[in-house]
Formats: sequence, structure tokens, C-alpha cells
Amino acid sequence: MKALVTGAAGFIGSTLADTLTAHGAEVIGLDCFTDYYARDIKEQNLAGLRAQPKFTFVEDQLQTVPLERILDGVTHVFHLAAQAGVRKSWGRDFLTYTTHNVDATQRLLEAVKDRALERFVYASSSSVYGDVAAIPMREDAMVQPVSPYGVTKLAAEHLCLLYATNYGVPAVALRFFTVYGPRQRPDMGFHRFIRAALTGQPITLYGDGEQTRDFTFVKDIVSALVAAGERGRSGGVYNIGGGSRVSVNEVLALIARITGRTLDIRREPSQKGDMRDTFADTSRAKAELGFSPSTSLEQGLQAEAEWLAALLNAPLR
Ligand code: NAD
Ligand code: UGA
Repeated sequence: MKALVTGAAGFIGSTLADTLTAHGAEVIGLDCFTDYYARDIKEQNLAGLRAQPKFTFVEDQLQTVPLERILDGVTHVFHLAAQAGVRKSWGRDFLTYTTHNVDATQRLLEAVKDRALERFVYASSSSVYGDVAAIPMREDAMVQPVSPYGVTKLAAEHLCLLYATNYGVPAVALRFFTVYGPRQRPDMGFHRFIRAALTGQPITLYGDGEQTRDFTFVKDIVSALVAAGERGRSGGVYNIGGGSRVSVNEVLALIARITGRTLDIRREPSQKGDMRDTFADTSRAKAELGFSPSTSLEQGLQAEAEWLAALLNAPLR
């Protein structure tokens, strides 16, 4: 395998690139270090990879980078580069979302459309569903995103499927459900909750805390990406979830237990763009990719808390 991983300095992209290189693949990582969060954090994500002889890093953005040379000999594309984050996607920031999520994906698809790729795996999102799909969510449910971010992730997913139909690009879309674990982005819930617990800061809780998520450990996401690269169906869409539906209040109770801290929780109104509930029906991914999540929420939270405690130089308990 010679893989191109876009978004390779990010949370999921760097974790995937670590696994691919550990399995002996040649990996080209591409990332432009968007300013959504600090470059230092992304450099730490890349530190191990930069020492790998089979890893090459290209610092550039998908909208303008000369792709022909980069794609030379590439067998697999894992397209994870995007402007992530649901709640920031309103207002003037939307332009950042359309540029990085839609325009960049279209340009990458144009560049691969006449190439003999084995797979093109796209990181889609549970945010495409919105609040109308029945729970557990199935891939054939009606999609009606409730955030501008979700609209751009769905547009890019549709582009992938269009290029599969019209040009035979072997595109596979994985709809990830809220991913967590070591290297999680600093804007995401678990990262903010654990960091606040360990440093004695207040926790901001949006809404009543009874919203639910199918939280998915990053190692399980990486297993799904690898499986999709091996046997994903061209034009196929697959939910990838962690296997349990948990409320934010339940998560906070677990974090209090794992860290041994009393949490200082401050309520704020629920945020525009947040879905109320998510829960994946992963039977298609199980049948076709052999996917099943292997990390429980408690194990995964423990791993993320240990990572953050080491980073902050704070005792976990
Ligand atoms: P992340 O922000 O940590 O990683 C994305 C990386 O892409 C960043 O390092 C950024 O600098 C880079 N990037 C963005 N636009 C680029 C461009 N135009 N050219 C080159 N590099 C660019 O985010 P993440 O949480 O690792 O998410 C990875 C992917 O998974 C995204 O596509 C996201 O939409 C999707 N996803 C994430 C989650 C989640 O819970 N984290 C859930 C569903 C889907
Ligand atoms: C996450 C990712 O951030 C998106 O990029 C991704 O596309 C999406 O999952 C997905 O599954 O598709 P989200 O579910 O909002 O989005 O993830 P978190 O930031 O971890 O938030 C989880 C819940 O905690 C939300 O209800 C949120 O409102 C709540 N939250 C988050 C708080 O109450 N306080 C915070 O400080 C942060």
C-alpha cells in the first residue's frame, strides 16, 4: 500500500498514519495546519511519524497543492482533511467550511478520477443525519443536517459518490460518530471536560446534558478506515459508531469517577447546530467490512484521561 492521508497532522489522520506505517505501508501525509487549533498540538501528533523512513510529510493545502506528483504511485487515499466542529460553522466562518470541506474534496476527486486507485476513503460524519432520522440511524435514513458543517460534510460525501458513479473512483464514505481518545481536538467535549476536571476549571455544559451520543474510540475508527481501504464497496456508505448510546450527564459522572474530582459544572443554553441524539446502526459495516467496536466508553475515557494528564503534567487521581 502507498497511501495518501489528508489531514495527517490532525487527531484522526495522525492516528491512522501511525497505524498504517506500523503495518509497513508507505504513507504520504498532507496537512496545511489550519489555525482552528494550535500548530504545536499538530506537531506533537506528527512527532513519531516524522521519524519513520516510510513517512513523507507535505505541508500544503488541498485547494492549491500540485496533486499530480503527490498522487504518483498512490494506491489508497484516506481523505480526512476538513474544517471540523459543528458549533462554529455559522456566520462568516461558513466560508472556511465550504473551502476546506467541499472545494478541497472536489479538487482531490478531479485529481484522482483517471487514476487506478484501489480505494478512496472519505471521512464523513454522523452530522449528515440531523434530528429526523430514526434511532438507531441507518445509512438509508433521510439526511437533513442541522448544522452548516453537516451540510458541507454531506455535500462532500455526495461528491465522492458522484465520482464513483461517473468516473469509477472507488470511493467509500464512513460516517464517524463523535470520535474521542488520545489526541482528541481541544474544542471537543471530552477533551474540554477532562482538561477542566484536571485543572480545577469550570465545565461548560450545553443544554440539560440529556443529549446522547454514540461516542467512538479513535482506535476503532482507525480499524474501520483500514477495513474500508481493504474491502469497502465502491459507492458504499457505512456508519461507524462505538456501540453504545450515552448522555453527556452520564459521561460527566464517569469523568468525575475516573479523575476522582468534583466537577464544577456551569450550564449554558443548548447550541445551534448540535444534534439532540445520535446512535449508529452499524450492521452494514459489520456485514461488509467486518467492523465491530472493541473499546468500551470507560476504557476509552481512561485512555484519554491518561493522555491528557501526562500532557498537562497533572496527576490523574
Ligand atoms: P482535525 O481538525 O484534528 O484534523 C483535520 C486536519 O485537516 C487538520 O490538521 C487540518 O490542519 C487539516 N486540513 C483541513 N483542511 C485542509 C486542507 N484544505 N488542506 C490540507 N489540510 C487541511 O479533525 P479530526 O477530528 O481529526 O477529523 C478528521 C476528519 O474526520 C474530518 O474530515 C472530520 O470532518 C471527520 N469527522 C470527525 C469526527 C470527530 O468526532 N472528530 C466525527 C465525524 C467526522
Ligand atoms: C463531533 C465532532 O466535533 C464533529 O467534527 C463530528 O463531525 C461529529 O462529532 C460527528 O459525529 O459527526 P459533537 O458530537 O458535537 O461533534 O462532539 P463533542 O464536541 O464531543 O460534543 C458532544 C456533546 O457535548 C454535544 O452535545 C455538545 O453540545 C456537548 N458539549 C461539548 C458540552 O456540553 N460542552 C462542551 O464544552 C463541549
